[in-house]
Amino acid sequence: MRLDKTICESTTLTRSQAKKVISQGRITCDDKIIRSCAFKPRKDAVIVFDGKTIAIRGPRYMMLNKPENFICSNVDEQLPSLFNLVDVDKKELLFIAGRLDADTTGLTLITDDGKWSHKITSPRNKCIKRYRVGLDAPICEDAVALFKAGIQLKSENQPCLPAELNILSSTEVILSISEGKYHQVKRMFGAIGNVVIELHREKIGDIELDNTLALGEWRYLTDKEVSSIK
Ligand code: URA
Repeated sequence: MRLDKTICESTTLTRSQAKKVISQGRITCDDKIIRSCAFKPRKDAVIVFDGKTIAIRGPRYMMLNKPENFICSNVDEQLPSLFNLVDVDKKELLFIAGRLDADTTGLTLITDDGKWSHKITSPRNKCIKRYRVGLDAPICEDAVALFKAGIQLKSENQPCLPAELNILSSTEVILSISEGKYHQVKRMFGAIGNVVIELHREKIGDIELDNTLALGEWRYLTDKEVSSIK
């Protein structure tokens, strides 16, 4: 990671303040003054600012059990931002890897690691997301086959990738999809003439929502969970 980003993430300095102190020659890496913001220190480099060693903070990875009526945005709009529920510093550096609608609940992954987030959200990676879905009307008999074949959404050129549907009851199903199109789950059920009335995300890749987290609670991911995203 670049030196200015490393310093910004590990101190109270903003990115522009970090750039300034670097160019002023107030930062050393392994005893050498570094004036280039783009310099990439080794992971275990000793970075010193005005004579004090900086405790380097690594990237952060968290899971949050999203309640209804919070939005996956960094700022409050008509509804409060999900980040109101996360009590950590430098929240402005965090973002959500795979947003949920305001009325959707469940597993939300939060990080400041763009590359890791990209592995989850990039369509190329086909990271599987599992949802528990409550439906307004009984599910049609051929739904499993239709989802497997690829649902055609309105105003999309290509059908969705094959999706796995497991029926729990006439109005409750588990859906696993490997894409993340806008309102995808609601639109998929809309395309077969049904309406989603409850939507809860249970799993992303191999990371399952920790069932000890009440709605609105969060915890850091374990190293195993972080590295499970390939
Ligand atoms: N699909 C939706 O329609 N909404 C969500 O929040 C997530 C997936």
